[in-house]
Amino acid sequence: MFDIEISHCPTIIYRPIQSSDLEALSQIHASLFPIRYEREFFINVVNGHGIVSWCAVDISRPDGNVDELVGFVTTRITTVKESEIDDLIKCDTSRIDQTLVYILTLGVVEQYRNLGIATSLVQEVIKYASRIASCRAVYLHVIAYNQPAIRFYQKMMFMLARRLPKFYYINGQHYDSFLFVYYVNGGRSPCSPMEAIAAIAAYFRGQLRMLTAKLWNRDDKSSRWSKCTENQSLTQNKRIVSAENSVFQTV
Ligand SMILES: CC(C)(COP(=O)(O)OP(=O)(O)OC[C@H]1O[C@@H](n2cnc3c(N)ncnc32)[C@H](O)[C@@H]1OP(=O)(O)O)[C@@H](O)C(=O)NCCC(=O)NCCS
Repeated sequence: MFDIEISHCPTIIYRPIQSSDLEALSQIHASLFPIRYEREFFINVVNGHGIVSWCAVDISRPDGNVDELVGFVTTRITTVKESEIDDLIKCDTSRIDQTLVYILTLGVVEQYRNLGIATSLVQEVIKYASRIASCRAVYLHVIAYNQPAIRFYQKMMFMLARRLPKFYYINGQHYDSFLFVYYVNGGRSPCSPMEAIAAIAAYFRGQLRMLTAKLWNRDDKSSRWSKCTENQSLTQNKRIVSAENSVFQTV
């Protein structure tokens, strides 16, 4: 599938991901990420069930597979309230329905890297988020050792908001993650004294929630490590991958 020679200047076009992309999408995820995504995740992506996604294809491919994915980005919308970054978003008392776009996965097959494909895909996400009146930011997690992705998001002007110690648990090992945010529609974090106080209060509420969750997890270890589905994961503070390598959520 990926043993292809590409022309020096491939002609890349971008389109939404569709049903016919199912197999290619799951194969690329398997080849790019150290963890396995559940089938349900891919089915939701190609059917647009709660997930908005785009892909890149090379219409100048010499092998004729001109509609086969060479890059993709998958996203979903969440509310600020439900997210873990409510303290990073400007309070807007007139709107209770503020939202965020969360980047679930982003990838480009190796032969097509450094051609600006991920840049175009993420720009598409930013455009999409900016068009949603209630949307305040695009955000995502990157595992701390993924230098190319970290440099990529920095180049794209995402703000490194925080480091989350031991955020990922993959095959028996903990890894930190970085949380990157790109503000849209004036969603930048608070700066007035009142807003700062509200943000601090939100931060402590978040810490309390985490502490409660930790205590709860301590009481119920078995459920802590049990397999989750992709849908559950966005509201969780940690992404945990089981020893069998099955997964629910990461980027
Ligand atoms: C991160 C990734 C999506 C970038 O895709 P891409 O199409 O090559 O990115 P672009 O060509 O649009 O942008 C390249 C920029 O990213 C950074 N970058 C990408 N690969 C890099 C590498 N190997 N080393 C250093 N910087 C790198 C550079 O800042 C580069 O900027 P430049 O063009 O000014 O040199 C790609 O490397 C990938 O698919 N990696 C595996 C999956 C992954 O890690 N996904 C992200 C998870 S959060």
